[in-house]
Amino acid sequence: MRRKLVVANRKMNGSLASNKAFLEGLLAGTRDYQNADYAVCVPHPYLFQAEALLKGSAIAWGGQNMSRYESGAYTGSVSPGMLTEFSCEYVIIGHSERRQRGHDTDHSIGERFEVATKAGLKPILCIGETLDEYEDGITDVVTIRQLNAVINEIGVEGLAGGVVAYEPVWAIGTGKAASPAHAQNILSFLRGHIEMLNADIAKNIRILYGGSVNAGNAAELFSMPDIDGGLVGSASLNTADFVAICQAASNDYR
Ligand code: PGA
Repeated sequence: MRRKLVVANRKMNGSLASNKAFLEGLLAGTRDYQNADYAVCVPHPYLFQAEALLKGSAIAWGGQNMSRYESGAYTGSVSPGMLTEFSCEYVIIGHSERRQRGHDTDHSIGERFEVATKAGLKPILCIGETLDEYEDGITDVVTIRQLNAVINEIGVEGLAGGVVAYEPVWAIGTGKAASPAHAQNILSFLRGHIEMLNADIAKNIRILYGGSVNAGNAAELFSMPDIDGGLVGSASLNTADFVAICQAASNDYR
């Protein structure tokens, strides 16, 4: 059975003081809820703090993006080796907020996924359709294209080293989460696609749902058979809300 995973995507939020309160609250709030995995993806300057506060606990941490290069003249970028120096377990790859601003393309995301796994990181590959694409009824075409871009780069076996997060762009930060039925439908479709290539990997890979997951809808979303947890933005800015989402994932342990 796949263990649920809840990941906080803190985006460009936080401060040393507020992060400390959040991480300490999370440690306390999940102590009795150990039937799921948790991770916090923080802005790069706070990795040192995340490592200091979370080391030795069951909560992992990670970055929100990563260069595909090891080093060099890439002003403002952070390499995989820099993330592993701070003991990151995860790194978010291809978030729509980066795709939309033209920073990431399907191809460069595939390369990043490969470089991340080679460095020992678990990439969290974000895929999902825009509102226009959703309304045009081409969610399947778009998400498969995004997933295949990575599979073409590293082969389906390479996917096993990471996590997939289906995040419809229209649901991100809007307060309008996809219905559990829609999310389940797409996740089962994506898993079915992976299954055609490798049944074992399809059975074991964690596919998360992201987009306005909150304390009120988490339990129902997580009860869907193919939803293996959540990538959580806005609700990770409130400790009590994020803890409640983590607890919902742990309670769903089957
Ligand atoms: P949201 O963000 O929870 O605020 O919708 C999710 C994400 O962008 O990963």
